[in-house]
Amino acid sequence: MNTLQVRASLDETRKFMHERLQGIVPEIEIEAKVEIAHGINELKHEMNAVILGHNYMEPALYHSIPDYTGDSLQLSSIAARTTADIIVFCGVWFMGETAKILNPGKTVLVPSEKAGCSLAEGITAADIRNLKEKFPGAVVVTYVNTYADAKAESDYCCTSGNADKVLTKLIEEGHKRIIFLPDAYLAENTATQLGLPYLDSEADEARFAAISKDQPLVIGWKAKCEVHELFTPEDVANIRKQYADAVILAHPECPPEVIDLVDKSGSTKAMVDYVRDKDAPWYALLTECSMGDNLAAEFPHRKLVRACTLRCKHMNYITLEDTLNALKNKQYQVELDEEIRKQALIPIQRMLEIQ
Ligand code: 13P
Ligand code: SF4
Repeated sequence: MNTLQVRASLDETRKFMHERLQGIVPEIEIEAKVEIAHGINELKHEMNAVILGHNYMEPALYHSIPDYTGDSLQLSSIAARTTADIIVFCGVWFMGETAKILNPGKTVLVPSEKAGCSLAEGITAADIRNLKEKFPGAVVVTYVNTYADAKAESDYCCTSGNADKVLTKLIEEGHKRIIFLPDAYLAENTATQLGLPYLDSEADEARFAAISKDQPLVIGWKAKCEVHELFTPEDVANIRKQYADAVILAHPECPPEVIDLVDKSGSTKAMVDYVRDKDAPWYALLTECSMGDNLAAEFPHRKLVRACTLRCKHMNYITLEDTLNALKNKQYQVELDEEIRKQALIPIQRMLEIQ
């Protein structure tokens, strides 16, 4: 939670931002952003709005305006409980949709209409209907990084924070065929973590036939995160060469051959928890690079390898300026078809029960 959430004056905001961001963000940039951040916080209080900030937000925004920060699962749970009239989601569009699915009566704003996600765009509701026909009786688990119409076709949602728990529950209930969409790598990495076989939904029939019907099987789709798919085993080797004692943490959207080589894989919350709670000489994060900046600012006693190699353009569309405009103009409002919303609510509620 942001320590600026108590209504702060312009001077207090300036002091906090300079102290928190020194050495992370150039002074001149902090100075340029202080008044915008203060303006947002004033409007937020006047409008009874809550600001949810994903861990990938740029450091000056992340450390000044959100009432809550976190990963997709944490922010969805907060969205489910908020009493604010307006939810401003400083994250990507599917996150705003999840908040709207949970809060049909509230205004939900995402500051940029361009903030998409290659995973959400990598599968349609029709694709899921086809998969259900191809694998009759299979249970469908959909990563929260999807749009509402895809969720509406699903039995469960999950995030990278509870994918293993959702799959474990389904296996305990006796499910043998689990369609896990749309991220091929998250599906395979989670299957490997749980010791389950994994097949791409388009694999040869002979490969499906070779797996006993009594053996739980994870069936994946072909979408990838356009950011995490770019990490390679060479990146891990290069970090180890220069920082032999670094603990390397990777997001499970990374390719399996990368996950094999790192010290720990987990959601962005798991990375925050690790850096806060576990002592290590150095920490290196294989994920969107604002995370490293945000953690370096919050935990100045920790040493982070600050190699900014990959950015998510979608997350980076969310700026302080656009967030101010979002509040001033009540834009961009998330609107959903009511039938789809009601259907999508079912797998989201099931997900929130499995934390
Ligand atoms: P988290 O749920 O781990 O925050 O991940 C969201 C995301 O978009 C990762 O690329
Ligand atoms: Fe989507 Fe990847 Fe960006 Fe996350 S980092 S929002 S999964 S494109």
